[in-house]
Amino acid sequence: MAQSSHDSGRLRLGVNIDHVATIRNARGASHPDPVNAALVAEHAGADGITAHLREDRRHIREPDLAAIKAKVTLPLNLEMAATEAMRDIALATQPNAACIVPENRMEITTEGGLDVVGQRRRLAPIMAALKDQGIRLSLFVEADQDQLHAAADLGADIVELHTGRYCDLPAGDDHDAELHRIIAAAKMTEQLGLECHAGHGLRFDNVGPIAAIPQVIELNIGHFLIGEAIMSGLSNAIMTMRRLMDEARSS
Ligand code: PXP
Repeated sequence: MAQSSHDSGRLRLGVNIDHVATIRNARGASHPDPVNAALVAEHAGADGITAHLREDRRHIREPDLAAIKAKVTLPLNLEMAATEAMRDIALATQPNAACIVPENRMEITTEGGLDVVGQRRRLAPIMAALKDQGIRLSLFVEADQDQLHAAADLGADIVELHTGRYCDLPAGDDHDAELHRIIAAAKMTEQLGLECHAGHGLRFDNVGPIAAIPQVIELNIGHFLIGEAIMSGLSNAIMTMRRLMDEARSS
């Protein structure tokens, strides 16, 4: 998403609205609308909207992208697989940034970072086509030195460090080692001239150490925020329904 510099030192929050669409799609209707969720995020102080158009369209769909572009002023970060079909959709959508992620049809969520080292040939032309149109290019990678070097060599503007393993590991040595790997990778992005983002699996209880890494300028957070929104908003929705039912009976 997308500013090229860390203007104010304030860590940017990109809100991933995919799972609003997951709930909508469960009924095949229009509620809840991810575009309205993006507007709520904008109102609540988010710095950007992130949406992942998956090959199977299990959550966000093309009309959502067009509506977000039309109605939301925040920058759009489009997560996408490195395919020609997605490249063409990104070129038509003109997001502020495209974040290339690995995609496996059977996965529940994005598992692991992109193998930039192994996929240079596939990535290079897709990245070039997007960059030519002024779309900032982000690669979602593990906190791994070789992957970061390859991302810089390929001309990525941004790397998003995968925090999934850090979030999943229970407290202990492995968890701490993963955090230190992320901290070291973030430092390396500075030397490589890459803008550093991070995300995946972040929650209230684990965001602190990642948010404290000075080189990280943006976090992208989705599933937890949408789940938490259900928990904090459910009582309100029930009370409104209760009132409407009671009013209907008393009139
Ligand atoms: N960043 C990337 C590249 C992702 O693929 C995802 C998941 O779509 C996220 C961030 C957000 O992860 P979560 O939904 O676990 O917060």
